[in-house]
Amino acid sequence: MGKKVLIVGGGGREHTLAWKIAQSPQVGKIIAAPGNAGIAQLGECFQIKDVELSQLADLAEKEAVDLTVVGPEMPLSLGIVDLFESRGLPIFGPNQSATQLESSKIFSKEIMTSQKVPTGHWRIFDVYQEALEYVYDHGTPVVIKAEGLAAGKGVTVAMEDEEAYLAIKENLIKGRFGDSSKRIIIEEYLCGEEASILAFTDGETILPMVTSQDHKRIYDEDQGPNTGGMGAYAPAPIVGEGLYDFIINRIFKPTIKGLERGGIIYKGVLYAGLIIGFNGPKVLEFNVRFGDPEVQSLLPLLKNDLFELCQATVDRRLKEQKLEFEEGSCLCVVMASGGYPGNYTTGYPISGLEEVAKMEDVAVFHAGTKMKKGEMVTSGGRVLGVTAKAENLESANQLAYQAVAKINFDGAFFRKDIGYKGLARLDEVPE
Ligand code: GLY
Repeated sequence: MGKKVLIVGGGGREHTLAWKIAQSPQVGKIIAAPGNAGIAQLGECFQIKDVELSQLADLAEKEAVDLTVVGPEMPLSLGIVDLFESRGLPIFGPNQSATQLESSKIFSKEIMTSQKVPTGHWRIFDVYQEALEYVYDHGTPVVIKAEGLAAGKGVTVAMEDEEAYLAIKENLIKGRFGDSSKRIIIEEYLCGEEASILAFTDGETILPMVTSQDHKRIYDEDQGPNTGGMGAYAPAPIVGEGLYDFIINRIFKPTIKGLERGGIIYKGVLYAGLIIGFNGPKVLEFNVRFGDPEVQSLLPLLKNDLFELCQATVDRRLKEQKLEFEEGSCLCVVMASGGYPGNYTTGYPISGLEEVAKMEDVAVFHAGTKMKKGEMVTSGGRVLGVTAKAENLESANQLAYQAVAKINFDGAFFRKDIGYKGLARLDEVPE
């Protein structure tokens, strides 16, 4: 009988992880909590929230799970790995101390500074007047970040002074994110193009994946408010080979070393959100998990057995592994509910999925979907990640949009330009 794997989480990232892990010849059964309608097609879903840690550990024990893989940052930062390990349950992900790299912007900046990892200049403030005076003196643009986790909403890029004053007030006076906004970082605004690099690490060996690029704004050409991510592609040609090596040597290695010096062994996936500017790459942020939607464009290209990679990370024997990626590109277009990231309505039937399932090299990862009276309906802001791989970025872009054209639900919204920066760089802009 094959291994049983529990996936914690219920978004597009977790469907992608379940899809890839289910391909392992070693894996017999996938279960998920809470999962979603896409994951339910691959295994069994249990209605336990990703933050209900004891119930998740009880489930893993009762179901005799061989490995748990955690998707979102919240259960990680609440200490799911520490809890599972204390109960002898194998789990893939960093422990609570290591998650501070994402859950505390100050911890992350301190590690970077001590290890000379390139990042923007920064200052910490907890006194309103002092933060204001800093902006009076230095002017804008600046980036204002709540110290802790804020569901992706804790960062304000203030181009004008008024925006900066407002963000400082929202955080330090109005406590917009509770304890997460008791302190803020005011950081240098960095110009350039963003890219993401994710790496498996067991605290000793670092196995970086190919580069990828997210599209965080809701509208084409990166206009409008930020979202959880409207699409991604991999690899991202902004990062050439030399730059890639620089990032591994000057960013990943010293960060893992710096953590180790503080007694923290990082096991899991480390995600560096980077800005590639005139002065070389700098770290915008670290995340302690697979990026979403980046993961949707990375895992279809990964040749390795993901279950084996996760297991080797947990057992600290990653040095036995070598990552291999397919040639070519992979591109994911997120289809969202109309109105997202603001208010939106759910419960609309989704059509076209069966037709798309017949398309070669296309996969549809579910984020906000559920079954209602035997019908697949929308249940969230981001609904589906429609992903295609092909021999190059242009073909992957075309194939993904051919698939998107076959899928429909009331109010469906998606960006029309996913991959545009990469395409422009390759001089392959589609007609
Ligand atoms: N793609 C952004 C994130 O996963 O945080």
